[in-house]
Amino acid sequence: MKFFVDTAEIDDIRELSETGLLDGVTTNPSLIHKSGRNFIDVIQEICEIVPGPVSAEVASVEAETMIAEGRKLAQIAENVTVKVPLTWDGLKACRALSNDGTMVNVTLCFNANQALLAAKAGAAFISPFIGRLDDIGLDGMELIQEIRAIYDNFADTIETEILAASIRSANHVKFSAMAGADVATVPPAVLKGLVKHPLTDAGLASFLKDWEKTGQTIL
Ligand code: E4P
Repeated sequence: MKFFVDTAEIDDIRELSETGLLDGVTTNPSLIHKSGRNFIDVIQEICEIVPGPVSAEVASVEAETMIAEGRKLAQIAENVTVKVPLTWDGLKACRALSNDGTMVNVTLCFNANQALLAAKAGAAFISPFIGRLDDIGLDGMELIQEIRAIYDNFADTIETEILAASIRSANHVKFSAMAGADVATVPPAVLKGLVKHPLTDAGLASFLKDWEKTGQTIL
């Protein structure tokens, strides 16, 4: 499974990129607003740090303007992935931008038929929003399973990757992986927390204490 980080905070992206475990980055207008940075500048900077796909979202609702915005964003760097919303206009823009050879991430997906449409429109990624479905008492993970089953039924024609989004917890990451999502985009705090287990910490402390008693060194 690929890991993307869902943020526009450069320090977090740099820190996670240094682990060698980061495959890409997703941003959205809310994350750009939170960063307080200029959109184009921040996307350019992220693309210099992370060689994998970096999602940058269009800000209009009409296909023609989305296409123009997407083409401008795609010029920032080769790894820019243009993010469009799951509307008819977004799907039209997805088709046009995909035909240009630009990777497109279709965002705000809340049901399986939407995901099927995005695949037909040539999306490189579909972003089902797990957390927001859970927030309203629905089951985000069930949506990942449904999309996986549908995409697998048409594996010879569908190349779209399932990008589990709106992830809020370590369990969301685990269950997305079990359900067959290709990618999880994870907030920095959740991503950093995945490594943690109290028994790992306790075990390491005890090993280090005993090693010190041996009086030996390896180097
Ligand atoms: C994905 O690309 C979105 O930016 C993100 O996952 C949305 O998450 P949220 O529902 O926590 O805002």
